[in-house]
Amino acid sequence: MRISEQVSLALALVAPSQAALRFGCSTLSIQRLDPIVQPGALPASHLHQIVGGNAFNATMTGDVGERGTCTTCTFSEDFSNYWTAVMFFKHPTNGTFKKVPIMQNAALPNGINGGMTIYYTQESFNSNGKAKITSFKPGFRMTVGAPSHGGSDTHTGLRFVCLDNKNTRFPELTTFPNKPCKGGIMTVHHFPSCWDGKNLDSPNHQDHMYTTTKEAFSPAGPCPASHPVRVPQVAYETLWDTTQFNNMWPKDGSNPFVLSFGDAKGYGTHADYLFGWKGDSLQRAMDNQCMFQACENGKPLKSQGVAAMNKCTVKDQVKEPIDSWLPELPGKGRFVKL
Ligand SMILES: *[C@@H]1O[C@H](CO)[C@@H](O)[C@H](O)[C@H]1NC(C)=O
Ligand SMILES: *[C@@H]1O[C@H](CO)[C@@H](O)[C@H](O)[C@H]1NC(C)=O
Repeated sequence: MRISEQVSLALALVAPSQAALRFGCSTLSIQRLDPIVQPGALPASHLHQIVGGNAFNATMTGDVGERGTCTTCTFSEDFSNYWTAVMFFKHPTNGTFKKVPIMQNAALPNGINGGMTIYYTQESFNSNGKAKITSFKPGFRMTVGAPSHGGSDTHTGLRFVCLDNKNTRFPELTTFPNKPCKGGIMTVHHFPSCWDGKNLDSPNHQDHMYTTTKEAFSPAGPCPASHPVRVPQVAYETLWDTTQFNNMWPKDGSNPFVLSFGDAKGYGTHADYLFGWKGDSLQRAMDNQCMFQACENGKPLKSQGVAAMNKCTVKDQVKEPIDSWLPELPGKGRFVKL
């Protein structure tokens, strides 16, 4: 049983008044676009896996929740976009790169195409903290981590897990695993959950937020006066199926995996969030007491099945090869020096 299952079982027994969302989103697109950090750039500097609503584009302004007509996520009113860098395998002798496939997580409905698991928790899996959780507003966006974060691993909540199987959750590592992982590699991205209450964005896409997040879904500390508004604690899990590369692990023992901006350590691991829930749907969910799948089927959120999720896509606007063995990373990782 995975830790979240254990906790939710415990919750079901002792404290039924929690509201937390955990849901799957299949892959919407894998291409070089980044409407937050490089709006308008076509292409952006490095490859992303994007999940969520089909209003995704090189530039995104206004109320995305009113523009989307389909989403790859379970909750059909969630037109938000969620994205991270993509993982590649670098062949140890011939030096070419192969994109690592993404697999669906455990505890999600079967058949989800790649994608991520998305969490909106109130405080943790153990407590809603009794705080009012305020939904993000239309136009809101944020990032966590930074590709230029070259030299250290101080980012709380940005982690790698060497999977024995899809339910492995610990230990959480600050860098790529240093050995082949039997069940693949999971990347985890926890966002800050304290908002300044005013700005939908900030020049570095981070200063309007403040993190009191601790590791591994444990309760976050109180929000400071500068960022007093508690918003949902957003987190992503992505499962990378690295197993086909385990027999090509380098002889010198070095990690052969690299993020799409050229980072073979993992210090620069980062994620982007662009709010796009329709109307007051996210606020209604946060005010509700539902937990995970119990929030589906109109209680209180509208939801959809896997076939509808997998069907939603956006056009590939960059049109470059990403699936073959590539002589260089798409965009050549030239945006950051590592
Ligand atoms: C993306 O932006 C382009 C250029 O502004 C526009 O033509 C296109 O319709 C947009 N696509 C979506 C899905 O919004
Ligand atoms: C590098 O190795 C992979 C895996 O064996 C192979 O598929 C690919 O064609 C090789 N590329 C070059 C340029 O040799």
